[in-house]
Amino acid sequence: MVDLLLGLQWGDEGKGKIVDVLTKNYDIIARFQGGPNAGHTLEFDGIKHVLHTIPSGIFHENAMNIVGNGVVIDPVIFKKELDNLDKFDIDIASKLLISRKAHLILPTHRLLDAASETSKGKAKIGSTLKGIGPTYMDKTGRNGMRVGDLEFSNWKKKYRALANKHEAMIGFYNVDIQYDLKELEEEFLEGIKTLKKLQFIDSEQYIFSAMAEDKKILAEGAQGSLLDIDFGTYPYVTSSNTTAAGACTGLGVAPGKIGKVLGIFKAYTTRVGSGPFPTELFDKDGETMGRVGNEFGATTGRPRRCGWLDLVALKYAVQINGVTELMMMKADVLSGFETIKVCTAYQYNGKTIQHLPYNIEGENVIPLYTELKGWAKDLTKLTKADQLPPALNDYIAFLEKELNVPIKIVSVGPDRLQTIYR
Ligand code: GDP
Ligand code: IMO
Ligand code: MG
Repeated sequence: MVDLLLGLQWGDEGKGKIVDVLTKNYDIIARFQGGPNAGHTLEFDGIKHVLHTIPSGIFHENAMNIVGNGVVIDPVIFKKELDNLDKFDIDIASKLLISRKAHLILPTHRLLDAASETSKGKAKIGSTLKGIGPTYMDKTGRNGMRVGDLEFSNWKKKYRALANKHEAMIGFYNVDIQYDLKELEEEFLEGIKTLKKLQFIDSEQYIFSAMAEDKKILAEGAQGSLLDIDFGTYPYVTSSNTTAAGACTGLGVAPGKIGKVLGIFKAYTTRVGSGPFPTELFDKDGETMGRVGNEFGATTGRPRRCGWLDLVALKYAVQINGVTELMMMKADVLSGFETIKVCTAYQYNGKTIQHLPYNIEGENVIPLYTELKGWAKDLTKLTKADQLPPALNDYIAFLEKELNVPIKIVSVGPDRLQTIYR
């Protein structure tokens, strides 16, 4: 069976931390979509690690880590990630396997991302500029380069043709993008050299065999449900299916083989980049969440926008993914708020609705809040569920009732050990 761990909001829910915490229970950790737009943070033994492409199980001896076919890999960023792991005693060559069918992000994909964003002006997506959109466009347009191509001698010819086409496309945008392709290509070739030191596999076959041997597999999502290309706040989304279905196509797992669906959310909401965010706060409360929660993007360093929990959106994510267990992160950040607000409905065109309408932009949607009592207690040193303050227990009970799914983990700090099981 394959369990899934998915972000239910706009990303950065704390997926990296929880995958690391859960890896002891699994034989394989597999990423199934996204690429270096992701920034997954793990913290233990006083050290903070940020991973972009490498699955968050890499620090554990017991687990194999797979980069699945649905992922897009930038060899340049990948090399940097591996270099950062050099000082730790990890046998990368035997513990990290790469799907031949994963697509490659070329330097010109990154340039195209920048050209597209610049040309959009104020309407830009706020992409991470990692080339994600253009790479998935080449994948679905059937023009992409895959990891498996690197095993054939003509890959450089293929690369040249695609890069030349991209250069012409950059011209069409008619924007001022400065670049030195020669320099970028040198870096790219270095990255490919490093990538080629790893084992390339037919990852779906590997996973079939692992399932036949009853191995336990955890699929690690990137981004979050509201950034899903189909179900997110389009066009302000990423270019992959971040929801449960993405694990089927991104790893080759049949729907019937999916076990638990673990949904992870923050006790409040954040978003980085452009796009609608009904519960966004522009006041002192939002500023406090950002400061206490240290809400800066793990990939781009941009400040994250902050707001109260949006239960309408969260319910939608629970439904789309078929979530069976929930994990609430960053409960510690809400300590000290006298009142906790939860958006339980929207006012939309003069009506009260409890579902996500087609367009949640701007004035369209006004969040309606239910207020709960806050708690003052510092949670960061707590280790057991019976130590949680009554007001937090009430908050949890309220959410469980509304969502009809149990909250199994409450996270009270970034460290591995700051994790409370219920
Ligand atoms: P991911 O993309 O879902 O893996 O999440 P990120 O790593 O981008 O962002 C989550 C941030 O919150 C990281 O800086 C984590 O170290 C931190 N974090 C995770 N869980 C908690 C928590 O319970 N409390 C606090 N204060 N920080 C947390
Ligand atoms: P993790 O896995 C938060 C956002 C970008 C932008 C939009 C499109 O760390 O949760 P893209 O570069 O994918 O074309 O950007 O999606 N975005 C993320 N926001 N966490 C992420 O990943 C994200 N990956 C992309 O900010 O708004
Ligand atoms: Mg992140």
